[in-house]
Amino acid sequence: MRVCDVSKRFLSPDGTEFIALKSASLEVGSGELVSLVGPSGCGKSTLLRLIASLDTPSAGELLVGTEPITGPEASRGLVFQDPNLFPWLTVRRNVQAGLVARGVLQQKAHEVDEYIRLVGLEGFADSFPHHLSGGMAQRVALARALINHPKILLLDEPLGALDAFTRMRMQDEVLRLWQTRRTTMLFVTHDIDEAIYMSDRIVIMSPRPGRIERIIDVNLPRPRQRSSPEFLKLRGDILELLDFSHHTDA
Ligand SMILES: Nc1ncnc2c1ncn2[C@@H]1O[C@H](COP(=O)(O)OP(=O)(O)O)[C@@H](O)[C@H]1O
Ligand SMILES: [Mg+2]
Repeated sequence: MRVCDVSKRFLSPDGTEFIALKSASLEVGSGELVSLVGPSGCGKSTLLRLIASLDTPSAGELLVGTEPITGPEASRGLVFQDPNLFPWLTVRRNVQAGLVARGVLQQKAHEVDEYIRLVGLEGFADSFPHHLSGGMAQRVALARALINHPKILLLDEPLGALDAFTRMRMQDEVLRLWQTRRTTMLFVTHDIDEAIYMSDRIVIMSPRPGRIERIIDVNLPRPRQRSSPEFLKLRGDILELLDFSHHTDA
């Protein structure tokens, strides 16, 4: 997947132009897990929405392979911070809704239970969302996205609403899904530790105008140790970079 010199401008109500994303370029290899980090308003969600075709770029080009992205497709799945489950539907029906949304007929319904197992929710297929913890609800959202066999999974702060312990468990869960399914993942997070723990590369973004500041390779063996000297060193480097970009826009 390639983002080539993509910009996104919005028009404010007073008619002035606002640059949410300026000349972003990024190449994400097949099967890669890349994180986007940066302060609020630096254009992370905007970039993800453009890749998902929920919005169109003001300039630049988005490609999958050599094909320009022209509209939303099941091959690009989305997971948000809020799992957005239908409260009146069971877990099974919620996952199935992913297929229905794609216009696939219900004869594929047997696949649904496979995906419920895949995300570790065996035994909860007939439960309703209000009986699930935050982590479990997010597993349902992951199953609902994965059932469409996305080539690229776009995750916009998917673990942002979870407590620290659930969050760490879910990081391993997402990594397990990534490794077994070999899905390309683009993962937005505020959490630098999360980005280092999970990603092959980290895209550091900065605001006003939103842009890609730096792309960092994470060359640490997996599974990663959050307290290793290499991990902490990288964390310090990234914090410094983010602090720097914060000062320059003041
Ligand atoms: N539809 C929109 N209309 C106007 N401004 C927008 C719109 N979407 C996002 N923005 C602005 O673009 C900037 C980047 O937003 P966003 O991509 O959501 O940032 P992030 O996800 O990094 O917090 C923000 O200042 C936001 O207010
Ligand atoms: Mg956002």
